[in-house]
Amino acid sequence: MMTQYGEITPIRARVPSARQSARRHYGVHPYFTRRPYNVVRAYILRYSKERDRVLDPFGGSGVTAIEAFLENRVGIQSDINPFANFVARGIANLTRGHISAYSEALERVREACERRLQSIEHAGDDELRRLRRTVRLPPNVPLSANSDVRMYYDLFSPRQLVSLALLKDAIDRVPDRYAGRGMLLAWSAALTKLNKTFLSAEGRAESRGGSSVFSIYRYKIAKKPVELPFSRIRRTEATSLTLIYLCSGITGSGTRLGGTSGQGSSSSAATCA
Ligand SMILES: C[S@@+](CC[C@H](N)C(=O)[O-])C[C@H]1O[C@@H](n2cnc3c(N)ncnc32)[C@H](O)[C@@H]1O
Repeated sequence: MMTQYGEITPIRARVPSARQSARRHYGVHPYFTRRPYNVVRAYILRYSKERDRVLDPFGGSGVTAIEAFLENRVGIQSDINPFANFVARGIANLTRGHISAYSEALERVREACERRLQSIEHAGDDELRRLRRTVRLPPNVPLSANSDVRMYYDLFSPRQLVSLALLKDAIDRVPDRYAGRGMLLAWSAALTKLNKTFLSAEGRAESRGGSSVFSIYRYKIAKKPVELPFSRIRRTEATSLTLIYLCSGITGSGTRLGGTSGQGSSSSAATCA
């Protein structure tokens, strides 16, 4: 029977927003204007019932679709920004594939990069210039006019650029589809810290903080740029350990987060455009 939405009592009381840290799967990657998951969830519960389809056409990083899925609805995500859909799909896909494949992927990337990253940490300018000619980099596109620097590469120190390229190359070679995508999500999250727009939060560990682009919506170079060491980042922010933790957290409810083609074992799915 169709739900008569006009008969549903609207939520009148304030829903205090919960801290995002209570749901690490959202914390794995920053995004602009992410809504508090518990408020989104309260609306989903009020306005839909199990197995309903919940569509968010301005879905951002996927909070609505993922919360809908976790409440046994079919969540449908879409956003005009491909980066939003990359983050949403990446989080939704974290429960696909096997944890052992994530572990293997981490080992593979570690073996391919660890020693080289350590030596890059101490490399001088000449060596970095030489290495830069040996790695695969994306096109050096011009940035929007309100950016502090003109070109994309200017957002990174030579060390960051070379190290990120090495990691990306190793991740591209991960044979398992879902583990590879999970690693790419982690790499993208690390990239938001490993650049000159990263602002280290005062009074906290150096690696806590974020890129100016998520807070003031432009590429503002930090007054005191912090070059976080790659070895530390790989252990804390961008590792499969985080991903493994995430997977067990989401699948722990006995459900499975689906992707575009499938239904989860609980007949729920989060679908990302
Ligand atoms: C407030 S954010 C959504 C945040 C999301 N609720 C979350 O928690 O991550 C609004 C989103 O609308 C998207 N957007 C803006 N104009 C759009 C359009 N014409 N079609 C689709 N999405 C659009 C933006 O890219 C942005 O991700």
